[in-house]
Amino acid sequence: MNKETGKFPLLEVRGVKKYFPIKKGFFNKVVGQIKAVDDVSFELFSGECLGLVGESGSGKTTVGRTILRALKPTAGEVIFQINGKSYDLASIENQELRPLRRHMQMIFQDPYSSLNPRMTVAEIIGEPLLVNGMINNSEREIIICDLLEQVGLKTEHLRRYPHAFSGGQRQRIGIARALALKPKLIVADEPVSALDVSVQAQVLNLLQDLQSAFKLTYLFIAHDLSVVGHISDRIAVMYAGRLVELGPAREIMTKPNHPYTEALLEAVPMPDPKSKPDRQLLSGEVADPSNLPTGCVFHPRCPKVEERCRVDRPDLREISPGNFSRCHLS
Ligand SMILES: Nc1ncnc2c1ncn2[C@@H]1O[C@H](COP(=O)(O)OP(=O)(O)OP(=O)(O)O)[C@@H](O)[C@H]1O
Ligand SMILES: [Mg+2]
Repeated sequence: MNKETGKFPLLEVRGVKKYFPIKKGFFNKVVGQIKAVDDVSFELFSGECLGLVGESGSGKTTVGRTILRALKPTAGEVIFQINGKSYDLASIENQELRPLRRHMQMIFQDPYSSLNPRMTVAEIIGEPLLVNGMINNSEREIIICDLLEQVGLKTEHLRRYPHAFSGGQRQRIGIARALALKPKLIVADEPVSALDVSVQAQVLNLLQDLQSAFKLTYLFIAHDLSVVGHISDRIAVMYAGRLVELGPAREIMTKPNHPYTEALLEAVPMPDPKSKPDRQLLSGEVADPSNLPTGCVFHPRCPKVEERCRVDRPDLREISPGNFSRCHLS
């Protein structure tokens, strides 16, 4: 249970790993592993929005896909609590997983490729209902019209195809589709990254409104800390397949503990660049998940690096109640 809010976890992710084999040669011999997600643990409390942030390649999408069992984890447990029962999504058989799928949905980054161009809006939003056995056309149409209105579209849009919409409108269609089966958990993978800045704010506000209207729990993935800070209750920061910091959003955004989070915050665009004259922007490349550095995996890029950081790998430690950091210096 969360001591601050008294809420229970909808999802408990424990020690999840996802390794992809690197194969070479005629016999497809496995010559190494890409450690895309390496020992990630966190809880997702019912009704909260947990932001997951990190640079490109840090493993955010792989975390999202693994906890929804779009990918089978290499190790770990993903405990999902629903209707008074708990299930380990990591190990459950496909047959048992199928009826649980409706409770967890994903919203994708690219509203252009995630919608079938040959289906009308009514068909796109209605498909999950149809697949789940709602065959009565008029009943389905009522629900589709209702969803369309909830996401800010009009019923006259029903017979149109995706190409006839703007990026922001398409993302609204994707959101309506994700909501059709009244899920509990939504993994939103960079839902606004492909949109114009002005449209980003509208879609973020819509996601927030829908969260309270539908009592949703979000795992909200983004590479931009300012977007995540806007919508999240707590924030998890990821680097090279691991969580490096986790804590309440207001604390992560104002007094982060990990040098990597500090660097991400420095990278957030400022209206007046002169207000922060001594900005230290991150240099170097994200660590290669198939060939990780020794010691702290962030040490080659860390401005505060010390000798022990090159040798000892730090654990994720609770440094104050609810605040976790993976740094020797925290
Ligand atoms: N199916 C796959 N096979 C092999 N490697 C993969 C696969 N999927 C992801 N990876 C690797 O795992 C690492 C993490 O990828 P992932 O897509 O999860 O990162 P991300 O944080 O979502 O990045 P982005 O911000 O660019 O979306 C990358 O090094 C990527 O190349
Ligand atoms: Mg991604």
